[in-house]
Amino acid sequence: MEIRAAITKEKGSLSIEKAELTEPKATEVLVKIIASGICHTDAAGIQGLIPWVKYPMVFGHEGVGIVEEVGSAVESLKPGDRVGLTFPSCGTCSYCVNGAPYACDRVNELFFSGAYKDGTYRISQNGKNIGSFFGQGAFADHVIVDARNAVKIVGVPDEKIKYLCSLGCGVQTGAGAVLNRCRPEPASTLVVFGAGGVGMAAVMAAKIAGCVKIIAVDVVPERLELAKEFGATDTINAKEVSDVVAKIKDITGGGAHYSVEVSGVPSLSLQAIQCLRRLGTAVVSSVTGPAEISVAIEPMLMNPSVTFAGLTEGASNPQVFIPRLIEYFKAGQLPIDRLVEFYPFEDIQKGFEDSHSGKTIKPILLFD
Ligand SMILES: NC(=O)c1ccc[n+]([C@@H]2O[C@H](COP(=O)([O-])OP(=O)(O)OC[C@H]3O[C@@H](n4cnc5c(N)ncnc54)[C@H](O)[C@@H]3O)[C@@H](O)[C@H]2O)c1
Ligand SMILES: [Zn+2]
Ligand SMILES: [Zn+2]
Repeated sequence: MEIRAAITKEKGSLSIEKAELTEPKATEVLVKIIASGICHTDAAGIQGLIPWVKYPMVFGHEGVGIVEEVGSAVESLKPGDRVGLTFPSCGTCSYCVNGAPYACDRVNELFFSGAYKDGTYRISQNGKNIGSFFGQGAFADHVIVDARNAVKIVGVPDEKIKYLCSLGCGVQTGAGAVLNRCRPEPASTLVVFGAGGVGMAAVMAAKIAGCVKIIAVDVVPERLELAKEFGATDTINAKEVSDVVAKIKDITGGGAHYSVEVSGVPSLSLQAIQCLRRLGTAVVSSVTGPAEISVAIEPMLMNPSVTFAGLTEGASNPQVFIPRLIEYFKAGQLPIDRLVEFYPFEDIQKGFEDSHSGKTIKPILLFD
């Protein structure tokens, strides 16, 4: 079928054009996109910062939509189902089978190469293959995804489905870092470095988990104010406080139990470790490229028995975790609708600009 898609033909380019979409294969579904979130990882891919990305590519990996057609082997979905799209995984490696698809052996290839599990493509233009980012390519009015990465949305009215885009990546990443990886015990203290889309979800999740001190660190006062509305008990403006680590130790009475670094600033990983108390855990989910930090193993990690963990996609098993997040959304405990601004698909460039400048926390493109 013919689709309209924002195609990146070379580094930095983005133009909405007509293209061809194939039929879904046995385990795949055809989805009409309602809305599609813009994530920093799309921007990184378009700017040529992800080494596995090949052009031409249709980016976009936070789509929500309606199933129009299902492949012959799909049992979990049927036409008419509302779905949230999320990251792909192979389904057969030991990590996938163990319920950790975020650590899939084929993660780099399936997220970034634009090809599907069998190495083939679904989009083309004049006979030339075009990749689908994250096995989605959701900057298009229709996509084909494997049923593994389409999560059925139940009990959400149609007019609210457009708010759920970032459950597929950004919100899943922030909320999952807290609920799936840190798993704070009652009365824990938790620090979030970076109060962007991912960080705000981490703050909301820390409140859900019952943390008694939730400290948001950022450099934009408006974002810190908003973080308070979502559950931050304390905020630190890193531009104004000269020693952020000392301030956190002061607020938490000796150091935080957990820290989540989602600012995209590599050097903050060090602060995320330094601000911990003994037995604390620091989780890093920023995509900061090949940046390096130096950590003194003995005094900083071993002696205080702290854990320094890297994480993708919030340690999420999406078919289990996204429905839970939808329940929190429905109960008003995950107010992610307050993070979004909507843009018509045609204004995709403006959505990227507003995300980059910080004007909009989560831009969402609408399709009609
Ligand atoms: N690991 C994953 O699976 C995954 C998934 C999605 C996003 N990410 C990454 O997570 C990071 C955050 O994404 P986002 O969409 O929330 O980005 P964002 O730009 O909305 O948020 C980053 C925040 O950090 C703040 N910040 C900048 N400098 C700071 C400093 N020195 N101290 C404290 N705060 C500072 C910014 O003001 C901003 O509010 C990005 O690096 C993104 O690529 C990772
Ligand atoms: Zn796998
Ligand atoms: Zn993303």
